[in-house]
Amino acid sequence: MKNYKIAVVNGDGIGHEIVPMGVEVLEAASAKFGFKLAITSFPFGAGYYQEHGDFMAEGAMEELKSFDAILFGAVGLPAVDDTLPFKLFTNKVRTAFKQYVNYRPVKLLDGIQSPLGTKTQADIDFVVIRENNEGEFVQNGRVMYGDEPHGFATDTSLFTRVGIERIAHYSFKLARKRRSKVTNVTKSNTMINTLAYWDRVIGEVAAQYPDVEYRKMYIDAATANFVLHPEYFDVVLTTNMLGDILSDLGGAIMGSLGFGPSGNLNPERTFPSMFEPIHGSAPDIAGKGIANPIGQIWSAAIMLEHLGEQAAADAIVAAINQTTAAGVLTTDAGGTNSTKEVAQSILKFL
Ligand code: NAI
Ligand code: MG
Repeated sequence: MKNYKIAVVNGDGIGHEIVPMGVEVLEAASAKFGFKLAITSFPFGAGYYQEHGDFMAEGAMEELKSFDAILFGAVGLPAVDDTLPFKLFTNKVRTAFKQYVNYRPVKLLDGIQSPLGTKTQADIDFVVIRENNEGEFVQNGRVMYGDEPHGFATDTSLFTRVGIERIAHYSFKLARKRRSKVTNVTKSNTMINTLAYWDRVIGEVAAQYPDVEYRKMYIDAATANFVLHPEYFDVVLTTNMLGDILSDLGGAIMGSLGFGPSGNLNPERTFPSMFEPIHGSAPDIAGKGIANPIGQIWSAAIMLEHLGEQAAADAIVAAINQTTAAGVLTTDAGGTNSTKEVAQSILKFL
Protein backbone atom coordinates (compact mmCIF):
# COMPACT_ATOMS: atom_id res chain seq x y z
CA MET A 1 0.00 0.00 0.00
CA LYS A 2 1.31 3.45 -0.93
CA ASN A 3 2.19 5.68 1.99
CA TYR A 4 2.56 9.42 1.51
CA LYS A 5 4.34 11.71 3.93
CA ILE A 6 2.34 14.94 4.14
CA ALA A 7 3.36 18.12 5.94
CA VAL A 8 0.43 20.25 7.09
CA VAL A 9 0.76 23.98 7.79
CA ASN A 10 -2.46 25.70 8.91
CA GLY A 11 -0.74 29.09 8.97
CA ASP A 12 -2.94 31.83 10.42
CA GLY A 13 -6.51 33.11 10.57
CA ILE A 14 -9.02 30.87 8.80
CA GLY A 15 -6.18 28.45 8.03
CA HIS A 16 -6.87 26.96 11.46
CA GLU A 17 -10.49 26.31 10.46
CA ILE A 18 -10.22 25.14 6.86
CA VAL A 19 -6.95 23.14 6.80
CA PRO A 20 -8.28 20.60 9.36
CA MET A 21 -11.29 20.11 7.05
CA GLY A 22 -8.90 19.39 4.20
CA VAL A 23 -7.08 16.86 6.37
CA GLU A 24 -10.35 15.11 7.33
CA VAL A 25 -11.32 14.77 3.69
CA LEU A 26 -7.85 13.43 2.83
CA GLU A 27 -8.10 10.84 5.59
CA ALA A 28 -11.52 9.72 4.39
CA ALA A 29 -10.21 9.46 0.81
CA SER A 30 -7.20 7.43 1.93
CA ALA A 31 -9.42 4.93 3.76
CA LYS A 32 -11.71 4.61 0.76
CA PHE A 33 -9.08 4.42 -1.97
CA GLY A 34 -6.48 2.28 -0.22
CA PHE A 35 -3.46 4.45 0.42
CA LYS A 36 -1.88 5.69 3.62
CA LEU A 37 -1.06 9.20 4.79
CA ALA A 38 1.57 9.98 7.40
CA ILE A 39 0.63 13.51 8.45
CA THR A 40 2.87 15.86 10.43
CA SER A 41 1.64 19.33 11.42
CA PHE A 42 3.87 22.37 11.68
CA PRO A 43 2.72 25.47 13.61
CA PHE A 44 4.39 27.92 11.22
CA GLY A 45 3.14 31.36 10.23
CA ALA A 46 2.72 34.87 11.60
CA GLY A 47 1.52 33.54 14.96
CA TYR A 48 4.70 31.49 15.20
CA TYR A 49 6.67 34.62 14.31
CA GLN A 50 5.11 36.55 17.20
CA GLU A 51 6.45 33.92 19.60
CA HIS A 52 9.72 32.88 17.96
CA GLY A 53 10.83 35.76 15.74
CA ASP A 54 10.63 33.78 12.49
CA PHE A 55 7.87 32.22 10.39
CA MET A 56 9.38 28.76 10.67
CA ALA A 57 11.70 26.88 12.97
CA GLU A 58 15.40 26.69 12.20
CA GLY A 59 16.13 23.74 9.94
CA ALA A 60 12.47 23.49 8.90
CA MET A 61 13.18 23.81 5.17
CA GLU A 62 15.56 20.84 5.39
CA GLU A 63 12.92 18.86 7.27
CA LEU A 64 10.11 19.77 4.85
CA LYS A 65 12.23 18.55 1.95
CA SER A 66 11.69 14.95 3.04
CA PHE A 67 7.89 15.16 2.63
CA ASP A 68 5.95 14.11 -0.48
CA ALA A 69 3.76 17.22 -0.36
CA ILE A 70 2.73 20.16 1.81
CA LEU A 71 -0.89 21.11 2.51
CA PHE A 72 -1.00 24.78 3.45
CA GLY A 73 -3.65 27.33 4.48
CA ALA A 74 -2.43 30.93 4.40
CA VAL A 75 -0.16 33.18 6.45
CA GLY A 76 -0.59 36.72 7.74
CA LEU A 77 -2.04 38.48 10.80
CA PRO A 78 -3.13 42.12 11.18
CA ALA A 79 -0.69 42.58 14.08
CA VAL A 80 2.34 41.43 12.07
CA ASP A 81 4.20 43.46 9.42
CA ASP A 82 2.51 42.29 6.22
CA THR A 83 5.69 42.46 4.15
CA LEU A 84 6.90 39.38 6.05
CA PRO A 85 4.53 36.44 5.39
CA PHE A 86 5.33 36.14 1.67
CA LYS A 87 9.05 36.74 2.17
CA LEU A 88 9.55 34.47 5.17
CA PHE A 89 7.14 31.68 4.35
CA THR A 90 5.21 31.43 1.10
CA ASN A 91 7.81 32.67 -1.35
CA LYS A 92 10.60 31.00 0.60
CA VAL A 93 9.00 27.59 0.13
CA ARG A 94 7.95 28.27 -3.47
CA THR A 95 11.45 29.29 -4.56
CA ALA A 96 13.59 26.96 -2.44
CA PHE A 97 11.54 23.98 -3.62
CA LYS A 98 11.49 25.20 -7.24
CA GLN A 99 7.70 25.24 -7.31
CA TYR A 100 7.80 27.33 -10.45
CA VAL A 101 4.27 26.48 -11.58
CA ASN A 102 1.32 28.00 -9.77
CA TYR A 103 -1.62 25.97 -11.07
CA ARG A 104 -4.97 27.68 -10.44
CA PRO A 105 -8.13 26.18 -11.95
CA VAL A 106 -11.13 28.44 -12.53
CA LYS A 107 -14.23 26.30 -12.94
CA LEU A 108 -17.85 26.99 -12.11
CA LEU A 109 -19.04 24.37 -9.62
CA ASP A 110 -22.40 22.57 -9.93
CA GLY A 111 -25.39 24.61 -8.84
CA ILE A 112 -23.41 27.85 -8.50
CA GLN A 113 -24.62 30.97 -10.26
CA SER A 114 -21.64 33.01 -11.42
CA PRO A 115 -21.80 36.73 -10.66
CA LEU A 116 -21.36 37.01 -14.45
CA GLY A 117 -25.04 36.10 -14.75
CA THR A 118 -25.57 34.38 -18.08
CA LYS A 119 -22.22 32.56 -18.08
CA THR A 120 -22.48 28.81 -17.46
CA GLN A 121 -20.19 25.88 -16.64
CA ALA A 122 -19.42 25.58 -20.35
CA ASP A 123 -18.07 29.15 -20.33
CA ILE A 124 -16.11 29.16 -17.07
CA ASP A 125 -13.55 26.37 -17.27
CA PHE A 126 -9.91 27.36 -17.58
CA VAL A 127 -6.62 27.27 -15.67
CA VAL A 128 -4.40 30.19 -14.74
CA ILE A 129 -0.74 29.16 -14.90
CA ARG A 130 1.11 31.75 -12.89
CA GLU A 131 4.90 31.83 -13.11
CA ASN A 132 5.79 31.30 -9.47
CA ASN A 133 9.52 31.80 -8.92
CA GLU A 134 10.57 35.04 -10.60
CA GLY A 135 9.10 38.06 -12.35
CA GLU A 136 7.84 41.00 -10.33
CA PHE A 137 8.02 39.18 -6.97
CA VAL A 138 11.77 38.52 -6.67
CA GLN A 139 11.98 41.35 -4.11
CA ASN A 140 15.05 42.82 -5.72
CA GLY A 141 15.08 46.47 -4.71
CA ARG A 142 15.44 48.97 -1.92
CA VAL A 143 14.04 52.02 -0.19
CA MET A 144 16.41 54.94 0.45
CA TYR A 145 15.94 58.24 2.29
CA GLY A 146 12.33 57.16 2.87
CA ASP A 147 11.46 60.05 5.18
CA GLU A 148 13.11 62.72 3.07
CA PRO A 149 11.82 64.69 0.08
CA HIS A 150 14.21 62.85 -2.23
CA GLY A 151 13.24 59.43 -0.87
CA PHE A 152 12.89 56.66 -3.44
CA ALA A 153 12.02 53.00 -3.79
CA THR A 154 12.78 50.39 -6.45
CA ASP A 155 11.66 46.85 -7.25
CA THR A 156 13.29 45.35 -10.32
CA SER A 157 11.59 42.35 -11.85
CA LEU A 158 13.66 39.50 -13.12
CA PHE A 159 12.87 37.18 -16.02
CA THR A 160 15.27 34.44 -17.11
CA ARG A 161 15.19 32.43 -20.32
CA VAL A 162 15.14 29.16 -18.39
CA GLY A 163 12.36 30.46 -16.15
CA ILE A 164 10.19 31.51 -19.09
CA GLU A 165 10.87 28.38 -21.12
CA ARG A 166 9.95 25.95 -18.35
CA ILE A 167 6.63 27.66 -17.50
CA ALA A 168 5.82 27.93 -21.21
CA HIS A 169 6.53 24.23 -21.85
CA TYR A 170 4.40 23.30 -18.84
CA SER A 171 1.52 25.42 -20.19
CA PHE A 172 1.61 24.06 -23.74
CA LYS A 173 1.81 20.47 -22.47
CA LEU A 174 -1.14 21.13 -20.17
CA ALA A 175 -3.10 22.65 -23.06
CA ARG A 176 -2.65 19.42 -25.02
CA LYS A 177 -4.48 17.59 -22.23
CA ARG A 178 -7.27 20.21 -22.26
CA ARG A 179 -8.71 22.21 -25.19
CA SER A 180 -5.35 22.99 -26.85
CA LYS A 181 -5.38 26.73 -26.35
CA VAL A 182 -2.79 28.93 -24.61
CA THR A 183 -3.31 32.64 -23.96
CA ASN A 184 -0.20 34.51 -22.90
CA VAL A 185 -1.37 37.40 -20.70
CA THR A 186 1.29 40.08 -20.90
CA LYS A 187 1.94 43.82 -20.96
CA SER A 188 4.84 44.01 -23.38
CA ASN A 189 3.58 47.21 -24.96
CA THR A 190 4.71 49.09 -21.86
CA MET A 191 7.11 46.70 -20.09
CA ILE A 192 9.24 46.80 -23.20
CA ASN A 193 12.23 44.94 -21.79
CA THR A 194 11.06 42.20 -19.44
CA LEU A 195 7.70 41.38 -20.95
CA ALA A 196 8.83 41.81 -24.54
CA TYR A 197 11.50 39.20 -23.71
CA TRP A 198 8.81 37.07 -22.01
CA ASP A 199 6.71 37.22 -25.20
CA ARG A 200 9.68 36.44 -27.42
CA VAL A 201 10.72 33.32 -25.49
CA ILE A 202 7.11 32.11 -25.17
CA GLY A 203 6.71 32.64 -28.92
CA GLU A 204 9.74 30.40 -29.52
CA VAL A 205 8.24 27.68 -27.32
CA ALA A 206 4.81 28.10 -28.97
CA ALA A 207 6.40 27.30 -32.33
CA GLN A 208 7.27 23.84 -30.95
CA TYR A 209 3.57 23.14 -30.31
CA PRO A 210 1.96 23.87 -33.70
CA ASP A 211 -1.10 21.83 -32.66
CA VAL A 212 -1.84 24.25 -29.80
CA GLU A 213 -3.59 27.51 -30.61
CA TYR A 214 -1.52 30.37 -29.22
CA ARG A 215 -2.51 33.97 -28.67
CA LYS A 216 -1.20 36.96 -26.79
CA MET A 217 -3.46 39.27 -24.82
CA TYR A 218 -2.61 42.34 -22.77
CA ILE A 219 -3.51 42.21 -19.09
CA ASP A 220 -5.89 45.18 -19.32
CA ALA A 221 -7.90 43.51 -22.08
CA ALA A 222 -7.63 40.13 -20.32
CA THR A 223 -9.25 41.46 -17.13
CA ALA A 224 -12.18 42.72 -19.20
CA ASN A 225 -12.40 39.39 -21.03
CA PHE A 226 -12.38 37.39 -17.77
CA VAL A 227 -15.69 39.16 -17.06
CA LEU A 228 -17.17 39.51 -20.55
CA HIS A 229 -15.82 36.41 -22.34
CA PRO A 230 -14.41 33.81 -19.92
CA GLU A 231 -15.11 31.23 -22.64
CA TYR A 232 -12.11 32.58 -24.59
CA PHE A 233 -9.74 30.92 -22.13
CA ASP A 234 -8.31 27.43 -21.69
CA VAL A 235 -4.74 27.77 -20.36
CA VAL A 236 -3.87 31.30 -19.26
CA LEU A 237 -0.08 31.65 -19.05
CA THR A 238 1.05 34.72 -17.14
CA THR A 239 3.59 36.26 -14.80
CA ASN A 240 3.84 36.08 -11.03
CA MET A 241 2.07 39.37 -10.21
CA LEU A 242 -0.38 39.40 -13.10
CA GLY A 243 -1.35 35.81 -12.26
CA ASP A 244 -1.80 36.68 -8.59
CA ILE A 245 -4.28 39.40 -9.49
CA LEU A 246 -6.06 37.53 -12.30
CA SER A 247 -6.59 34.40 -10.23
CA ASP A 248 -8.50 36.33 -7.55
CA LEU A 249 -10.71 37.59 -10.37
CA GLY A 250 -11.00 33.94 -11.39
CA GLY A 251 -12.19 33.11 -7.86
CA ALA A 252 -14.70 35.95 -8.05
CA ILE A 253 -16.26 34.71 -11.29
CA MET A 254 -16.55 31.24 -9.72
CA GLY A 255 -18.77 32.92 -7.14
CA SER A 256 -16.31 33.36 -4.27
CA LEU A 257 -12.63 33.73 -3.56
CA GLY A 258 -13.20 30.89 -1.09
CA PHE A 259 -13.71 28.40 -3.94
CA GLY A 260 -10.30 28.89 -5.59
CA PRO A 261 -7.76 26.06 -5.25
CA SER A 262 -4.09 25.98 -6.22
CA GLY A 263 -0.97 23.89 -6.47
CA ASN A 264 2.54 25.29 -6.24
CA LEU A 265 4.12 22.62 -8.37
CA ASN A 266 7.64 21.35 -8.83
CA PRO A 267 6.91 19.32 -11.97
CA GLU A 268 10.26 17.50 -11.83
CA ARG A 269 9.34 16.22 -8.33
CA THR A 270 12.83 16.86 -6.99
CA PHE A 271 11.15 18.76 -4.14
CA PRO A 272 7.74 18.58 -2.47
CA SER A 273 4.95 20.65 -4.03
CA MET A 274 2.65 22.80 -1.89
CA PHE A 275 -1.15 23.03 -2.11
CA GLU A 276 -3.17 25.99 -0.79
CA PRO A 277 -6.33 27.93 -1.53
CA ILE A 278 -5.77 31.08 -3.60
CA HIS A 279 -6.99 33.41 -0.87
CA GLY A 280 -5.30 34.69 2.28
CA SER A 281 -5.88 34.23 6.01
CA ALA A 282 -9.09 36.34 5.97
CA PRO A 283 -8.65 37.90 9.43
CA ASP A 284 -12.01 39.68 9.04
CA ILE A 285 -13.89 36.37 9.38
CA ALA A 286 -11.36 34.25 11.30
CA GLY A 287 -12.62 32.37 14.35
CA LYS A 288 -16.29 32.63 13.34
CA GLY A 289 -16.60 29.17 11.78
CA ILE A 290 -17.97 30.61 8.54
CA ALA A 291 -14.99 30.38 6.17
CA ASN A 292 -15.58 28.55 2.92
CA PRO A 293 -13.49 25.33 3.10
CA ILE A 294 -13.93 24.38 -0.58
CA GLY A 295 -10.80 26.06 -1.99
CA GLN A 296 -8.78 24.24 0.67
CA ILE A 297 -10.43 20.84 0.13
CA TRP A 298 -10.12 21.18 -3.65
CA SER A 299 -6.41 22.02 -3.15
CA ALA A 300 -6.09 18.76 -1.21
CA ALA A 301 -7.65 16.97 -4.21
CA ILE A 302 -5.09 18.59 -6.53
CA MET A 303 -2.42 17.33 -4.15
CA LEU A 304 -3.70 13.75 -4.51
CA GLU A 305 -3.77 14.16 -8.29
CA HIS A 306 -0.13 15.29 -8.17
CA LEU A 307 0.75 12.26 -6.03
CA GLY A 308 -0.87 9.96 -8.60
CA GLU A 309 -4.10 9.21 -6.72
CA GLN A 310 -6.34 10.33 -9.58
CA ALA A 311 -9.45 8.34 -8.56
CA ALA A 312 -9.39 9.76 -5.05
CA ALA A 313 -8.87 13.28 -6.40
CA ASP A 314 -11.79 12.90 -8.81
CA ALA A 315 -14.01 11.56 -6.02
CA ILE A 316 -13.27 14.59 -3.82
CA VAL A 317 -14.03 17.02 -6.65
CA ALA A 318 -17.27 15.11 -7.35
CA ALA A 319 -18.25 15.34 -3.66
CA ILE A 320 -17.54 19.09 -3.72
CA ASN A 321 -19.84 19.45 -6.74
CA GLN A 322 -22.58 17.38 -5.10
CA THR A 323 -22.34 19.64 -2.06
CA THR A 324 -22.59 22.89 -4.04
CA ALA A 325 -25.38 21.40 -6.17
CA ALA A 326 -27.28 20.59 -2.95
CA GLY A 327 -26.96 24.26 -1.93
CA VAL A 328 -24.78 23.50 1.10
CA LEU A 329 -22.80 26.75 1.03
CA THR A 330 -21.13 29.23 3.33
CA THR A 331 -22.26 32.87 3.42
CA ASP A 332 -19.58 34.15 1.02
CA ALA A 333 -21.19 31.90 -1.62
CA GLY A 334 -24.73 32.95 -0.76
CA GLY A 335 -25.53 30.12 1.68
CA THR A 336 -26.18 29.84 5.40
CA ASN A 337 -23.97 26.88 6.30
CA SER A 338 -20.92 26.79 8.51
CA THR A 339 -17.41 25.67 7.54
CA LYS A 340 -18.00 22.36 9.30
CA GLU A 341 -21.39 21.72 7.68
CA VAL A 342 -19.91 22.18 4.21
CA ALA A 343 -17.01 19.86 5.05
CA GLN A 344 -19.42 17.28 6.58
CA SER A 345 -21.46 17.33 3.40
CA ILE A 346 -18.37 16.70 1.28
CA LEU A 347 -17.40 13.82 3.59
CA LYS A 348 -20.90 12.36 3.35
CA PHE A 349 -20.88 12.40 -0.47
CA LEU A 350 -17.36 10.98 -0.51
P1 NAI B 1 -7.91 37.41 1.83
O1 NAI B 1 -7.90 36.53 0.63
O2 NAI B 1 -7.50 36.80 3.12
O3 NAI B 1 -9.41 38.01 2.03
C1 NAI B 1 -10.06 38.80 1.05
C2 NAI B 1 -11.58 38.77 1.30
O4 NAI B 1 -12.08 37.49 0.91
C3 NAI B 1 -11.93 38.94 2.77
O5 NAI B 1 -13.11 39.70 2.88
C4 NAI B 1 -12.16 37.52 3.26
O6 NAI B 1 -13.06 37.42 4.31
C5 NAI B 1 -12.69 36.83 1.99
N1 NAI B 1 -12.31 35.42 1.98
C6 NAI B 1 -11.08 34.91 1.69
N2 NAI B 1 -11.09 33.58 1.81
C7 NAI B 1 -12.33 33.22 2.17
C8 NAI B 1 -12.96 31.98 2.47
N3 NAI B 1 -12.30 30.81 2.40
N4 NAI B 1 -14.27 31.99 2.84
C9 NAI B 1 -14.95 33.14 2.90
N5 NAI B 1 -14.42 34.35 2.64
C10 NAI B 1 -13.12 34.38 2.28
O7 NAI B 1 -7.03 38.67 1.45
P2 NAI B 1 -6.54 39.93 2.32
O8 NAI B 1 -7.63 40.36 3.24
O9 NAI B 1 -6.03 40.86 1.32
O10 NAI B 1 -5.31 39.41 3.17
C11 NAI B 1 -5.40 38.91 4.49
C12 NAI B 1 -4.05 38.36 4.93
O11 NAI B 1 -3.73 37.19 4.17
C13 NAI B 1 -2.89 39.33 4.72
O12 NAI B 1 -2.03 39.21 5.83
C14 NAI B 1 -2.20 38.82 3.46
O13 NAI B 1 -0.85 39.14 3.40
C15 NAI B 1 -2.42 37.33 3.62
N6 NAI B 1 -2.37 36.57 2.37
C16 NAI B 1 -1.69 35.38 2.42
C17 NAI B 1 -1.64 34.57 1.31
C18 NAI B 1 -0.88 33.29 1.43
O14 NAI B 1 -0.52 32.87 2.50
N7 NAI B 1 -0.63 32.58 0.33
C19 NAI B 1 -2.28 34.95 0.06
C20 NAI B 1 -3.01 36.19 0.12
C21 NAI B 1 -3.03 36.97 1.24
MG1 MG C 1 -3.03 36.30 -4.13
